[in-house]
Amino acid sequence: MDCLVCHDTTGHYKKTPTSAGWPDKDLDLKPIAEKVGHSSRVSCGSCHFNGGGGDAIKHADMGGNLARPDPNCDVHMGSLDFSCRTCHTTRQHRIAGRSSSVAAAEGVVRCEQCHSEAPHLGNSLLDHHLNRHSRTLACNTCHSPVYAKCAPTKTWWDWSKAGDKQRKPAMMDLGTGTPLPDYHPMKGEFRWQRAVKPSYDWFNGNMARVLLGDAVPLDQGPVLLTRPLGSIRDPAARITPFKIMKGVQAFDPLYHTLLIPHLFPRNAEDTTAYWKHYDWQMAFIDGMASAGLPYSGQWHWQETWMYWRLEHEVMPAKMALSCIQCHDSLRGEKTCDRCHQDSRHVDFKKLAHQPTDVSFLQQIGQSTVALQGNNDYLDLKQLGYRGDPIVYGGRFKELPLGQKIPSTR
Ligand code: HEC
Ligand code: HEC
Ligand code: HEC
Ligand code: HEC
Ligand code: HEC
Ligand code: HEC
Ligand code: HEC
Repeated sequence: MDCLVCHDTTGHYKKTPTSAGWPDKDLDLKPIAEKVGHSSRVSCGSCHFNGGGGDAIKHADMGGNLARPDPNCDVHMGSLDFSCRTCHTTRQHRIAGRSSSVAAAEGVVRCEQCHSEAPHLGNSLLDHHLNRHSRTLACNTCHSPVYAKCAPTKTWWDWSKAGDKQRKPAMMDLGTGTPLPDYHPMKGEFRWQRAVKPSYDWFNGNMARVLLGDAVPLDQGPVLLTRPLGSIRDPAARITPFKIMKGVQAFDPLYHTLLIPHLFPRNAEDTTAYWKHYDWQMAFIDGMASAGLPYSGQWHWQETWMYWRLEHEVMPAKMALSCIQCHDSLRGEKTCDRCHQDSRHVDFKKLAHQPTDVSFLQQIGQSTVALQGNNDYLDLKQLGYRGDPIVYGGRFKELPLGQKIPSTR
């Protein structure tokens, strides 16, 4: 990367898609270079807001709205005006933060680095239990219970449908005033979603990834290009929210590798680019040769999934998931008094039934049915529990009362 893309403060610096990372050749770089300064959400976002070729397409929790976010979409960048580097601390250009998709890391960023392992400060009777949950639940499981709140994201992308120049896209407006197409002849068929409930899975800090040239089984359902590692039995793993990017991509049926098409024409003379000739065969021959990988000459369309962690778009605390969203057993008359002695001074029922504040989602016209009517928001059985942990016990088997939790660190 060049220096200006991160250190520009004028907003005039730009790259063009065809120039493979070089700055737009018509730019006058001198006035831009004279005004270099700190990186910003806008300069980091010039790449990260556009993963997948447009606003918030791939990373649901990173889009152009984070340049000036509504505080309800992201408390840190919205109401506290954090820059990316406030969390992604940087020393000699090693930018901390692990990615879900790329096996490179220059340090780790964790919520606990600022908030400590016991972030709930003790001014509410719920804090003791909330803090104990962070051994088993990632913070964002409760603090970002829906993703793509402020900008729609692509959740389905079927490349096999590309190439039909006659097909008219259906337009969908997800309440942003900008209708989005469900089809493009260059890219195929899409689905867009907004304010989506995440998928939850165990994650111990490591991802399994399919890298360039890796052979994968093609007869076992969707190929998981990235997937979180960990399980209910792994004390380091926590239940973590993900966006799963689903789609259809081409694989080599002989070598079992993901095929790389040559898409963008190199120049006016280009004879193989898919986006010029709409010929997959020529595009795969060229793309795989450029990548230095073998290609059998055949292709096969296969469903693929990629897991992306949701780390941004933390909502204000009052919008966090509440006890009854996960604990069916606290829904009725008996709540905290299942375990605690009833006290005349504390209204247990009121505490346990405190609802999640959904007024913001209603205000932006998004459905709140999943958040309001639900008492198994995470599908605890699918995650390996026998049922509500209050009734059946947690994974550290600390119930019945009084037994100590073994340390996980
Ligand atoms: C990926 C983005 C990125 C790129 C590319 C980048 N920088 Fe930085 N740079 C940062 C960040 C983040 C910091 C931390 C301070 C800040 O920006 O607020 C930083 C800090 C600096 C500092 C301040 C001294 C320091 O170490 O804190 C200088 C000087 C600097 N960069 C020069 C450069 C030069 C010269 C290049 C090109 C060779 C470059 N940067 C490329 C992101 C980048
Ligand atoms: C010129 C484009 C570009 C700019 C500008 C840029 N990045 Fe990146 N960044 C990338 C790409 C490409 C990757 C690798 C793919 C991925 O993880 O999404 C990446 C990866 C990352 C990762 C994941 C860690 C890793 O090693 O894979 C973090 C965190 C990150 N960038 C933060 C920043 C921050 C903070 C800034 C601004 C100081 C910034 N980036 C500016 C392109 C950019
Ligand atoms: C409130 C803190 C915070 C702020 C502000 C923040 N991030 Fe992050 N970001 C995180 C955390 C935490 C992770 C997870 C990193 C890890 O596991 O090491 C992360 C992960 C990432 C990743 C990797 C995502 C993935 O799963 O592949 C990228 C890229 C990234 N951030 C870019 C940015 C950019 C660009 C900005 C500014 C627009 C930004 N972040 C602002 C906390 C923050
Ligand atoms: C089981 C759900 C849950 C988990 C897990 C969780 N929180 Fe919370 N958090 C809440 C709720 C609910 C509130 C608001 C009510 C309260 O504090 O009584 C809150 C409040 C907060 C507050 C506001 C201060 C305060 O004391 O009220 C901060 C900061 C916070 N959480 C950070 C975190 C961090 C960081 C993590 C991960 C280490 C985390 N939370 C994990 C549910 C959760
Ligand atoms: C660079 C430090 C830093 C990191 C990293 C960070 N936070 Fe915060 N966060 C703050 C500060 C400062 C505040 C404002 C003071 C407070 O409420 O504790 C805040 C506020 C909050 C609040 C309360 C907002 C409200 O309604 O008052 C929540 C919830 C929260 N953070 C959750 C998280 C989660 C979840 C992560 C990880 C994805 C995270 N934070 C990462 C510094 C950080
Ligand atoms: C996002 C879902 C979720 C929310 C919200 C949630 N819990 Fe839990 N809770 C769990 C899970 C999962 C476990 C099992 C933890 C384990 O395996 O150790 C659990 C365990 C418990 C336990 C068993 C004993 C213990 O501490 O490990 C109690 C008590 C409890 N929760 C109370 C609460 C209360 C009170 C609230 C509201 C302040 C709450 N929970 C909010 C998911 C949730
Ligand atoms: C499944 C049993 C169970 C339920 C239900 C439960 N708790 Fe607890 N709670 C415990 C246990 C056990 C402790 C003792 C300390 C420990 O092991 O964490 C505790 C500790 C506490 C503490 C800290 C007491 C101290 O002296 O430090 C508070 C406050 C608390 N609970 C409030 C609540 C509230 C409010 C609810 C309902 C919303 C609730 N609990 C529901 C089992 C439960």
